[in-house]
Amino acid sequence: MSYYKIDDLEQYFKHYKKSVREPRKFWDKIADENFTWYQKWDKVVEFDMQTADVKWFLNAKVNITKNCIDRHLAKRGEKTAIIFEPNNPKEEARHITYNELYEQVSKWANVLREQGVKKGDRVCIYLPMIPELAFAVLACARIGAVHSVIFAGFSASAVSTRVNDLESKVIITADGGYRGSKSIDLKGIIDEALEKTPSVEKVFVVKRTNSEITMKPGRDQWIQPLLDDALNNNVAEIMDAEDPLFILYTSGSTGKPKGMLHTTAGYMVYSAYTFKNIFQYEENDVYWCTADIGWITGHSYILYGPLLNGATTVIFEGVPSYPDFGRFWEVIDKHKVSQFYTSPTAIRSLAKENSEWVDKYKLTSLKVLASVGEPINEEAWHWYNDHVGKKKAPIADTWWQTETGGIMISPIPFVTPTKPTYATLPLPGVQPVLMDEKRNEIEGNQVVGSLCIKFPWPGMARTIWGDHQRFVDTYFSTFPGKYFTGDGALRDEVGYYRITGRVDDVVIVSGHNLGTAPIEDAINEHPAVAESAIVGFPHAVKGNALYGFIILKEFGETRDRDNLSNEINQFISSHIGPIAKLDKIQFVSGLPKTRSGKIMRRILRKIAEGDFSNFGDTSTLLNPEIVDEIKNGKL
Ligand code: WT7
Repeated sequence: MSYYKIDDLEQYFKHYKKSVREPRKFWDKIADENFTWYQKWDKVVEFDMQTADVKWFLNAKVNITKNCIDRHLAKRGEKTAIIFEPNNPKEEARHITYNELYEQVSKWANVLREQGVKKGDRVCIYLPMIPELAFAVLACARIGAVHSVIFAGFSASAVSTRVNDLESKVIITADGGYRGSKSIDLKGIIDEALEKTPSVEKVFVVKRTNSEITMKPGRDQWIQPLLDDALNNNVAEIMDAEDPLFILYTSGSTGKPKGMLHTTAGYMVYSAYTFKNIFQYEENDVYWCTADIGWITGHSYILYGPLLNGATTVIFEGVPSYPDFGRFWEVIDKHKVSQFYTSPTAIRSLAKENSEWVDKYKLTSLKVLASVGEPINEEAWHWYNDHVGKKKAPIADTWWQTETGGIMISPIPFVTPTKPTYATLPLPGVQPVLMDEKRNEIEGNQVVGSLCIKFPWPGMARTIWGDHQRFVDTYFSTFPGKYFTGDGALRDEVGYYRITGRVDDVVIVSGHNLGTAPIEDAINEHPAVAESAIVGFPHAVKGNALYGFIILKEFGETRDRDNLSNEINQFISSHIGPIAKLDKIQFVSGLPKTRSGKIMRRILRKIAEGDFSNFGDTSTLLNPEIVDEIKNGKL
């Protein structure tokens, strides 16, 4: 019997039980049967959850790109590996076969090797969503260099912080990138960033926008002539299971960003296994995840997960609103996409537009929908289900984190019955627990607590680059011996999990524990409301009171604000209870969001408190200008 694929609920429970009772046997079998190894492991796992030392598949030897590419060539050489859908719909899409991917990655790998990049070197990649980004990432993995993709929307200072933390010698970038109607001067940003990065010796530049750029002699080179001269085959580096594969930064609630380090074999096994089950991928499907490869979602579920399974994966350069609000749906029909993975933010931003933008497309190719990044509120869930999935495609609300490497809690489409706003059940191998304030495990159902994971899984991050103590302190100290996710969750009467948001998003009002997400859900159901964010602020009597920042749909903007405020509070009263009513409401035109779509609540909290002095690091904001607008609106 194979454990790689779950076909029905009974089988899910069977696999799940096996994975808890005999985790070693479970992962041993999956790793053994579904990958190509130079050498197998001596031991499946070794761990100490106090010191946060975790190793999987000890002493195994492998190269992840052999598994992503080479082993498919015999059967799938002419199959499309990557469909590139450019920003401008008038530019032709590119279909890159597995054979072509092999040649491109080989050329890139040969160039990097010839240019002196060695196993273990950190290579920073600052590229737009073009196929070269995939080639660069895979070429690093091919030669054992550690890739660190920096989202090509980050500012020069964010880039230099990361490059310096990694002490990278090599940067791969482009002359520019397209995003909707804008083009971004990537090379200019790199030039500015590199004024403060003494470690950098070489910059390789991909041509994309043909814009005028400056090339610094001795440092900068166009990559194309080097690729033209390179051989189109390459012998992969033999990597140890625990050799670093990549480092990806995630913002901490305080301090500098954390470079989460993922290693080779465990990440490979976990990203492949979760992709296979969550997306129920079948041989001729076309799979599309709209994330950016600069985030973990793009690493695990645009590149590694799909390619490990020999899938066809779409790389989309553009944005959901360009040239119009129908772009996602147009691309789905155009490429006959079967699995579609996006974020609640994207869904809400499209749901607030006229539904004709989506209803005019057929979308008959869709089989599975998925969502990630934040809790998907009920209204957005239904819109996604009704307008996109036409009530026929199950929605996988996938909960996971940069740190977890892959999806942890999610319905398995066609297997797990879904329930709006619930991430439902853990995948086999994942052992979630809810903890109370006294650090005790909460047993039973219909309970809430801090979400921890009590047993290691292959895809987990192994450390924070250069700061293992911070890794221990952040994730393994709050609840000793367990991995603490930072999220709160409830477990319902059947054992389904609902993520209630970051534990620090909970506001205690008059002694009542209020999650901000359900209140936002209630408000968002008001027909005039497009989006909202709730934070707590100090209150003399109640301890904390609630402050709501609310974006109105266009038609709401003409309405009387006082009436609207009253109606919104009535909505909250009837949905949650009068305790959750907002003390203050401010109508705003936008909310401060990180580039991964998360509201930066710490800024809203400061504004709500009337403390305009120090907003901390705002370099990861997509729309920094909104902070002043909200602040001034409050003055
Ligand atoms: C945090 C991790 C994992 C890729 C994208 C974000 C929140 C993520 C869900 C979900 C509720 C979710 C959590 C988590 N989150 N998915 N389906 N339901 N919350 O990665 O930037 O590392 O953020 O995103 O709060 O801890 P990330």
